[in-house]
Amino acid sequence: MFNILVLNGPNLNMLGVREPGIYGSESLGDIEIKLSKLAEAEDLSLTFFQSNHEGELIDKIHAAYGSCEGILINPGALTHYSYALRDALTTVKLPVVEVHLSNIHAREAFRHHSVIAPIALGQISGFGSFGYEMGLLALKRHLSK
Ligand code: DQA
Repeated sequence: MFNILVLNGPNLNMLGVREPGIYGSESLGDIEIKLSKLAEAEDLSLTFFQSNHEGELIDKIHAAYGSCEGILINPGALTHYSYALRDALTTVKLPVVEVHLSNIHAREAFRHHSVIAPIALGQISGFGSFGYEMGLLALKRHLSK
């Protein structure tokens, strides 16, 4: 069984309330329930964490060293500028899948660039919460190789 850290960054605790036309009507709790069901079927163990604070996300990534085999992350707006988050991910050397609910490439120019994507296995963007499910399956496939 693989342990996967599922991280969500700033403002994602407000899913369901926050711009539902862009991010959908599901809450983060709804998404986590869906992922837990998938994890059970796929024999994965998940640890969920959301924070609005960059440092707390970094601490959680460090804590994953030696306890998790992979990281699924929606870094929120930190995607676009947080070298500190990127450095934390490279530090622990765990496979990372980056996920976004919205298609960041079809939105404002500042969202088109991700500082995380170059160090991730891949980026999934624009499929709503299904993207998190795809990300988990991609991590499992990668870890099973
Ligand atoms: C997001 C896209 C980011 O640009 C934005 O800042 C978010 C959410 C997404 O899931 O689509 O907070 O990561």
